[in-house]
Amino acid sequence: MEKEETLKRIKKEALENKVPILQDASLDLILMILNIKNPKKILEIGTAVGYSAINFASIDSAPFVKTIEIKENMYNIAKENIKSMELQNQIEVVLADATEYLKNLDEENLYDVVFIDAAKGQYLVFLENAIRLVKDGGLIIADNVLFKGRVLSDYNEHKHRTAVNRLRTYLKLIEEDKRLKSTVVNIGDGVAISIVKK
Ligand SMILES: C[S@@+](CC[C@H](N)C(=O)[O-])C[C@H]1O[C@@H](n2cnc3c(N)ncnc32)[C@H](O)[C@@H]1O
Repeated sequence: MEKEETLKRIKKEALENKVPILQDASLDLILMILNIKNPKKILEIGTAVGYSAINFASIDSAPFVKTIEIKENMYNIAKENIKSMELQNQIEVVLADATEYLKNLDEENLYDVVFIDAAKGQYLVFLENAIRLVKDGGLIIADNVLFKGRVLSDYNEHKHRTAVNRLRTYLKLIEEDKRLKSTVVNIGDGVAISIVKK
C-alpha cells in the first residue's frame, strides 16, 4: 500500500513538472505484454524520472531493468524515486548518451525486451543496437512513433520534420526488416511492437 502511494506521488510530481512519462493507455498496453512475456531482463532507453522503469520492474517476473538517461537532473531524480520504491537492486540507471553508450554495450546475456523512449531523431541508432542486444524471440517496443499524429500528417512544421522523417524511416524499417515482425498500435503517442527472430 505504501509503495502504491509512493508510485502515485512519483507520477503526480512528474506530471506537475511536465516530464513526458508514458501515458496511461500505453503503459497499460506495455504492462500487459510484459506480463505475458515474463521478461527477466529489460533494457530501457530514456529513463526520465524512472516512472516506466519502476512499473516494469514491479511486474510478477521481477525483471532486472537497465535504463539509460542523458540528463543529470533526471538521472538524480530517477535514482531517488527508485530508492524510495526500494528497487535499487533491480534497476540500474546509467547516466549517458545512449547513442554512445549502446555502441560499447556488449552483453553476454541478451535482453528479453528493449524499450525505446528517448530522442525521436535517434530512433534509428537505437533500433540498430536494440536488434543486436535483444534475444532471439525477444521484443523491441518503441513509444512516440506517431509523434502526436505528425508522422501520418502531410504537412509538418519545419522544426519537427527531421524527427518525423526519422520516425517514418523507423516504421518502414521495422516493417521491411526480415528479422522483425512488427505492429503499430495507435494508442497514446503510438507504440510500435516488434518481435525479433534472428
Ligand atoms: C519520454 S522521456 C522518458 C520517459 C520514461 N520512459 C517514462 O515513461 O517514465 C525521454 C527521456 O529520454 C532522455 N534522452 C533523450 N535522448 C537521450 C539519449 N540520447 N540518451 C539517453 N537518454 C536520452 C531525455 O532526457 C528524457 O528524460
